[in-house]
Amino acid sequence: MGAMKGRKNNNLSIFVVVFSVFLFGVFMYNEDVKSIAEFPFSRSKAQEIQEESSSTPIIIKTNPLQETSEKDVENKNNVVSVSVSVKSRTQLGAESHVENSGEKQEKEEEPKIELPVEEEDDEDVELPPEDCDLFTGDWVFDNETHPLYKEDECEFLTAQVTCLRNGRKDSLYQNWKWQPRDCSLPKFKARLLLEKLRNKRLMFVGDSLNRNQWESMVCLVQSVVPPGRKSLNKTGSLSVFRIEDYNATVEFYWAPFIVESNSDDPNMHSILNRIIMPESIKKHGKNWKSVDYLIFNTYIWWMNTFSMKVLRGSFDKGDTEYEEISRPIAYGRVLKTWSKWVNRNIDPKRTTVFFSSMSPLHIKSEDWDNPDGIKCAKETTPILNMSTPLEVGTDRRLFVIASNVTKSMKVPVHFINITTLSELRKDAHTSVYTIRQGKMLTPEQKADPATYADCIHWCLPGLPDTWNEFLYTRIIAKS
Ligand SMILES: *[C@@H]1O[C@H](CO)[C@@H](O)[C@H](O)[C@H]1NC(C)=O
Ligand SMILES: *[C@@H]1O[C@H](CO)[C@@H](O)[C@H](O)[C@H]1NC(C)=O
Ligand SMILES: *[C@@H]1O[C@H](CO)[C@@H](O)[C@H](O)[C@H]1NC(C)=O
Ligand SMILES: *[C@@H]1O[C@H](CO)[C@@H](O)[C@H](O)[C@H]1NC(C)=O
Ligand SMILES: *[C@@H]1O[C@H](CO)[C@@H](O)[C@H](O)[C@H]1NC(C)=O
Ligand SMILES: *[C@@H]1O[C@H](CO)[C@@H](O)[C@H](O)[C@H]1NC(C)=O
Repeated sequence: MGAMKGRKNNNLSIFVVVFSVFLFGVFMYNEDVKSIAEFPFSRSKAQEIQEESSSTPIIIKTNPLQETSEKDVENKNNVVSVSVSVKSRTQLGAESHVENSGEKQEKEEEPKIELPVEEEDDEDVELPPEDCDLFTGDWVFDNETHPLYKEDECEFLTAQVTCLRNGRKDSLYQNWKWQPRDCSLPKFKARLLLEKLRNKRLMFVGDSLNRNQWESMVCLVQSVVPPGRKSLNKTGSLSVFRIEDYNATVEFYWAPFIVESNSDDPNMHSILNRIIMPESIKKHGKNWKSVDYLIFNTYIWWMNTFSMKVLRGSFDKGDTEYEEISRPIAYGRVLKTWSKWVNRNIDPKRTTVFFSSMSPLHIKSEDWDNPDGIKCAKETTPILNMSTPLEVGTDRRLFVIASNVTKSMKVPVHFINITTLSELRKDAHTSVYTIRQGKMLTPEQKADPATYADCIHWCLPGLPDTWNEFLYTRIIAKS
């Protein structure tokens, strides 16, 4: 046992070294490897300014309905212990809100305007048993139920993730459903989720992968909200998607290391010389208090250097001296700071806390035995042959730390174990169908995936929708 463990760790360490050297090499000798949006050392100053929208608040507000005479009748919330029955109707405006918790009501009049309405259905949502391992299973092709929304029906998606609009020809990456081995994920119902979020705030905190998931969540819920009743407000580190009729928000807070760092500016954050303050979290943390659902992550920004720079002193005092410590040690210190913050500031009766494990990269096609591949660029199917273990360069040491820390906290934390199942999705990255320096890749850049493919972020609809299905499952299970 011990010998086996030792050998495994050795292999891992060697791999990490090789991986880091590879990345370093890419950085040193290919100055223009800016394809990877936001990948730590891959961006120029100019890119930074353009990529993360602007520093002024951006408000996207949809046009209000032309007609206002429609009646609003909502019949829902028939909650019966474990299974939940939802009967929902078109929801228009908020004036006459009728809610019933107990008996179902029939509605005589149908609205005159056709809106994208979720099909009415009375099916119960069946929850998996609480002890079922949702993260062990298979990807199953299912174009009946997936994607959960259409790319061109979600106006809130940014150009970073709209792969089809950006020229991707294959769309099968949208049709894969995650099938846990021992149970099934409940059918996704936006109204049921919104009912759970009524008068509540849900917030993703972390890096661009958590932002990727936030965009997915916005799309998952927005389809059942009529125009003019939803808005997106991006101000500084915080982006807030508001759903008026439910008084609910789905938010994203930029904090790529969770703790304080010199990369916290939401618009000008790409600094080659990353420095963190592993014990400093209050400045960010004050923005997370009194949120009802918190989803944390931090990974990709750790991956550019082998060691982590830790500030001696404080940015506020103008200190610039730092020491370099190994990545897992620094990661452990950050998560310890985070867990202390959660234990001290979160009331588990009110707030549910999640921590997402790392979202993997696919930059070496030999990892999945495709010597003719170019990073993730030519991939159109998930890895389905699981007879040999897959190794795509994920730093598993950080996974173990996150898994350990979240297990041993006073406040219970749901560990969203997305890493292994996402490692199979080499087909689901944005690749060259994305933006760079705030602009769509040019045809010449698209023709050069070796340089420009982004194999970090994911197309939407796509994989992050599945991550949100895990959140959904936990959220609707809580009464
Ligand atoms: C995470 O999920 C994978 C399968 O997707 C499983 O093999 C692994 O044991 C899980 N790890 C933890 C800590 O739950
Ligand atoms: C789903 O996939 C099957 C098999 O590839 C195909 O025949 C069918 O037309 C697809 N249906 C939809 C709705 O795309
Ligand atoms: C609306 O939601 C906020 C944030 O969750 C909450 O503090 C407030 O009480 C809610 N308003 C009403 C009228 O319930
Ligand atoms: C957007 O959010 C900011 C910060 O909370 C606030 O000052 C501003 O008034 C909001 N804008 C709108 C239009 O709601
Ligand atoms: C799965 O992969 C293994 C090892 O690469 C290979 O030997 C086997 O033939 C593959 N199975 C299928 C069904 O492709
Ligand atoms: C994680 O926890 C296990 C079991 O308690 C322990 O053996 C291991 O050393 C821990 N690893 C880290 C990195 O904390």
